[in-house]
Amino acid sequence: MTTATKPGLRPANPNFSSGPCAKRPGWSVEALKAAALGRSHRAKIGKTKLEQAIALTREVLNVPADYRIGIVPASDTGAVEMALWSLLGERGVDIVAWESFGAGWVTDVVKQLKLADVRKFEAGYGELPDLAKIDFDRDVVFTWNGTTSGVRVANGEFIPTNRKGLTICDATSAAFAQRLDFEKLDVVTFSWQKALGGEGAHGMLILSPRAVERLETYKPAWPLPKIFRLTSGGKLIEGIFKGETINTPSMLCVEDYIDALLWAKSIGGLETLIARADANAAVLDRFADKSAWLGHLAVDPATRSNTSVCLSFTDPDVAALDADGQAAFAKGMVSALDKEGVAYDIGSYRDAPPGLRIWCGATVETADLEALLPWLDWAFAAQKASLKAAA
Ligand SMILES: Cc1ncc(COP(=O)(O)O)c(C=O)c1O
Repeated sequence: MTTATKPGLRPANPNFSSGPCAKRPGWSVEALKAAALGRSHRAKIGKTKLEQAIALTREVLNVPADYRIGIVPASDTGAVEMALWSLLGERGVDIVAWESFGAGWVTDVVKQLKLADVRKFEAGYGELPDLAKIDFDRDVVFTWNGTTSGVRVANGEFIPTNRKGLTICDATSAAFAQRLDFEKLDVVTFSWQKALGGEGAHGMLILSPRAVERLETYKPAWPLPKIFRLTSGGKLIEGIFKGETINTPSMLCVEDYIDALLWAKSIGGLETLIARADANAAVLDRFADKSAWLGHLAVDPATRSNTSVCLSFTDPDVAALDADGQAAFAKGMVSALDKEGVAYDIGSYRDAPPGLRIWCGATVETADLEALLPWLDWAFAAQKASLKAAA
C-alpha cells in the first residue's frame, strides 16, 4: 500500500550512497586526531601508520599470510589499472562484465591495451554471464560485486583452485561485506570509501604468490608509467607492500581507514560486517517482496548484492514509461527524499536502468533502512500523483 501522508520517523542517518558510503556508526572528526599530519609519510610515524593499515586489512579480511597487500594511488581504479597493465599480455584473457564498471575494464583491455586474444563474456543489467564458459587457463578479469546493477557472484566456486591463468578481481563493493575466496583470487582490489565508509583516493592491491611470480617473469611489451610500476630490475618492489607507497598518500585518509578497520575489529570482524550487510539487504528484500511498485533489478536471488541493492519499477504505469520517463520518475522521487533529508544519493547509476540504488553495507544501521521504507512509499505515491496529474 502506498500512502501520501508523510511518515513520522526519519532515518537518523540519511546517507545511503554507494560510494563514498556512510561513515561508521559513531564516527566524528575526533577519530582523526592521532593522524600523522605535517610529517613525512616516510618518517617512522607515517610508515608505522601505513604498516598498521596493511596489517589490519590482512587481519579483518583474513588475507592469507603469503599474499602481498599494497596501498596504491588512484583508488580502486588505480589498483585495477596497475594490475591490468602490469600482468596481462602473457596469455589470452577472458573478461567478464555485467554492468558499467566491468564494462570499463573490457574497454581498457580491448581498446587501450589492444590485446589480440581476448574473449568477452557479457550480460545485461540484472544478470550474470554464463560463468561455466570461462577458461581459467587464460587470465580472467571480473568484478565480484557489480555496484551499478546489484548483481554479484554468489561465491568463488566457479573458479578452479588449479588454474594456469591469473584471476584479477575488482572487489571494491564486495570487500568487508562479502566472503572473498582468496584461494581463488590472484589479484584483489578495492578502495577505502565503500563498505567501511573510509575516504576516497587510495586503492588496495592484494597479490597472490602466483601474481608476484608473473610480475617477476613477464615484462609487458608496453611502457609503464612510474605510478603503475610494481617491479624494478625484474623484481617485485617489496616496499610497496610494506607501507613504502609509490608516491605521497594522505595521512588523514590513512588515519580514517585505520579507524574504520579498528571499528570493524571491535564489532567482531568480517563475520559481523557480513551479517550487518545481510541484515540490511534483508530489510529491502522483504520490502521489495511485498511492494506493488518496486522489485530487484537482479533476477536471480542467489546473485543479489548485499551492498549496492538496485531496485527498479514494477508498477505497471511507471514500467510502461520509456527509459527517459522512468529516469524522470526516479529523479522526482530521489529529489523529494533528498529535500526531506531522509535519503541522499539513492538514484541508480547514470549508465544503469532507471530506479533506486540503496547501499546496505555494514556502516549503515538497519534501523535507518527500516525508517526509510515508509518514505519510499511516500515518495512513490507523490511522484505517481504528479504523473497522473500530468497525463
Ligand atoms: C565495481 C567498481 N569498480 C570500480 C569503481 C571505481 O572506484 P574508485 O572510484 O574507487 O576508483 C567503483 C566505484 O563505485 C566500483 O563500484
